[in-house]
Amino acid sequence: MSGNEVNAKSPRILAVANQKGGVGKTTTAINLGTAMAAIGECVLIIDMDPQGNASTGLGIAHDERKISTFDILMDPNIVSQSLLATAVPGLLLMPSTLDLLGVENELAGSPDRAFRLKQAIEIIKNVQINTGKETKPFDYIIIDCPPSFNLLTINAMAAAQSVLVPVQAEFFALEGLSQLTNSITEFREMLNPNLEIMGIVLTMVDSRTNLSKDVAKQVSSVFGKKLYNAVIPRNISVSEAPSHGKPVLLYDLKASGSQAYIQLAKEIIQNEKGADDPAAMQAS
Ligand SMILES: Nc1ncnc2c1ncn2[C@@H]1O[C@H](COP(=O)(O)OP(=O)(O)OP(=O)(O)O)[C@@H](O)[C@H]1O
Ligand SMILES: [Mg+2]
Repeated sequence: MSGNEVNAKSPRILAVANQKGGVGKTTTAINLGTAMAAIGECVLIIDMDPQGNASTGLGIAHDERKISTFDILMDPNIVSQSLLATAVPGLLLMPSTLDLLGVENELAGSPDRAFRLKQAIEIIKNVQINTGKETKPFDYIIIDCPPSFNLLTINAMAAAQSVLVPVQAEFFALEGLSQLTNSITEFREMLNPNLEIMGIVLTMVDSRTNLSKDVAKQVSSVFGKKLYNAVIPRNISVSEAPSHGKPVLLYDLKASGSQAYIQLAKEIIQNEKGADDPAAMQAS
């Protein structure tokens, strides 16, 4: 574990968040993470939701979740022991359990309670992962947030560099988004001055309906280039995959949902590379 040399490559840390429930946060965390790993990135998904849907969707049984996000928030120093391999090479998981429901109580008296995940991630940055092909640090850390702004989301927002916002293509989408941007402004002021919205991805899109087109137009008029070109279609394989404990890319690679998540992963990786290297951005 060295910290002396130039920090050549730190993982990008993104929180997948939207206070609205059921918009595709967990589905996006799992399948974006899988697509990134398939492209060769080394990825960690942190399950910050007591529902544990990301853990279940990645096929991690309850009795395998020996050291969970809850334990890490209690003691960030043991974080390396919590990381579990998944069926996807290069994709690891920090699993969650229902214990997470007790975090607010357990940490009520701790002055650093908002920064426990951040402390854990500082340690994870130095962990080397064997992807089967090579040994390297994580390229991406993806935090799957619960659908509310409680201490769990606050920990995610304090630890992340940016927020990826899945938005379901539906009538009230924009209303929820303005609440979300207000909250992100507050998080920035209170916890994390560099926090930004990385991008917005439309989920469960039915391209045949005018509603989906209208929502896309409205979101893009407010958020401009932050709206990804890749859109995630409503796709039966995407919704079936979690019950098989698999990301949709493993369940049905040819499905339109799988292909869409690969497009999203490519777009995000390309944008990140462009941001690191302005010359590459101009060339592309
Ligand atoms: N592209 C899609 N096509 C079809 N079904 C989808 C798609 N994306 C998500 N779903 C389904 O919609 C439901 C909600 O998705 P998901 O659990 O990812 O949302 P969430 O935002 O994480 O929910 P919560 O707020 O409860 O954490 C799930 O049943 C999921 O399988
Ligand atoms: Mg979820």
